[in-house]
Amino acid sequence: MLAGKHILLIIGGGIAAFKSLDLIRRLRERGAEVTPVLTKAAEQFVTPLSVSALAGNRVYRDLFDLTDEAEMGHIQLSRVADLVVVAPATADLMAKMTHGLAGDLASTLLLATDTPVLIAPAMNVRMWEHPATQRNLVQLQADGIAVSGPAEGDMACGEFGPGRMSEPLEIVDAISTRLAVGPLKGKRILVTSGPTHEPIDPVRYIANRSSGAQGAAIARALMARGASVVFVTGPADVAPPDGAEVIKVTTALEMQQAVTAALPADVAIFAAAVADWRMAEASDRKLKKSKDGLPVLVFTENPDILREVAHLQDGRPELVVGFAAETNDVVENATAKRARKGCDWIVANDVSPETGIMGGSENAVTVIDAAGAETWPRMDKTAVANRLADRIADALADRT
Ligand code: CTP
Repeated sequence: MLAGKHILLIIGGGIAAFKSLDLIRRLRERGAEVTPVLTKAAEQFVTPLSVSALAGNRVYRDLFDLTDEAEMGHIQLSRVADLVVVAPATADLMAKMTHGLAGDLASTLLLATDTPVLIAPAMNVRMWEHPATQRNLVQLQADGIAVSGPAEGDMACGEFGPGRMSEPLEIVDAISTRLAVGPLKGKRILVTSGPTHEPIDPVRYIANRSSGAQGAAIARALMARGASVVFVTGPADVAPPDGAEVIKVTTALEMQQAVTAALPADVAIFAAAVADWRMAEASDRKLKKSKDGLPVLVFTENPDILREVAHLQDGRPELVVGFAAETNDVVENATAKRARKGCDWIVANDVSPETGIMGGSENAVTVIDAAGAETWPRMDKTAVANRLADRIADALADRT
């Protein structure tokens, strides 16, 4: 997937540097050439010899390694790559990048480069949350630098929180996204995700338990295969995927408008748990308890966004994928839903409370298309997303 791509990998000095060894292996497995650069601090965590052996390339460590003009100069070194990756990006490296310092080889390369840069931050949670680091992050993103992670979890220092470096395969996905390589390169894919909130009055609303995790994972998997993704999301628990064009909405009506505005697309995936009903008239004042009895909520039906897009005469996406959240007779109900909605595929799942799927990290789905039903084993939502993205890439390839 990364054949012919050249990555300049700057390894910063943090405990996460050991994961960069695996990152090098994963990148080379995918056909990328890796030129590694170690900061002085990184040498405390990984040895130049192991990095060089894994990369199959010489390691650059010192600005003065490059003064010999028979060797590559730092300007040239900073520009040979298709992408500069900083992993782990320590708080110190991020601060140097933000302020344009160039006191050592790594920071000089980052200042001299005109190729895109991706960083995978890793540091103690307090350092990550410090206003200085957060300010630097905002500036780096404004400068066009892509960011992968950090993830939340137990840290080597014994604390818990955001600050762990993304896993090597997540960084590989972020690299593929940034380089827009893969079977879905050039495809524009619309993904709806998350719940919708339908107001009752200014402080109350009707919602559902969708976390948005499956939709976000699908968007990431599509981008990792080269697609450009428009991500229309209701108020989800999970963060929207980096690298997507994100459109945040609250209600089903707003989602309908955002979807219409986002078309045309080659593929549309409707992973959102859209509320079927909204209040016929939401109150513009907070409803009060009254002696006259309980309030009566009068509903009206929301537009069925999936159905509308699947029935477009003009500009229908080549492939329209719906989801079916069922609590019983999953295959029968979802097969009927596919026909009713007019979509090409339905990804059906059993959301009975005992499955723990809604709001959980795993999913067990059955994909229904014109040929019938295909049941996948229960797996992580990321694995479901990857398998679905591969299926979509295969289907588009078969059609051309
Ligand atoms: N959907 C949509 N707009 C709606 C409702 C649903 O786009 N107003 C999409 C969802 O994103 C999902 C699919 O339709 O892809 C299935 O939604 P679901 O609510 O499960 O199906 P319903 O049409 O509500 O059918 P039922 O009431 O039988 O569950």
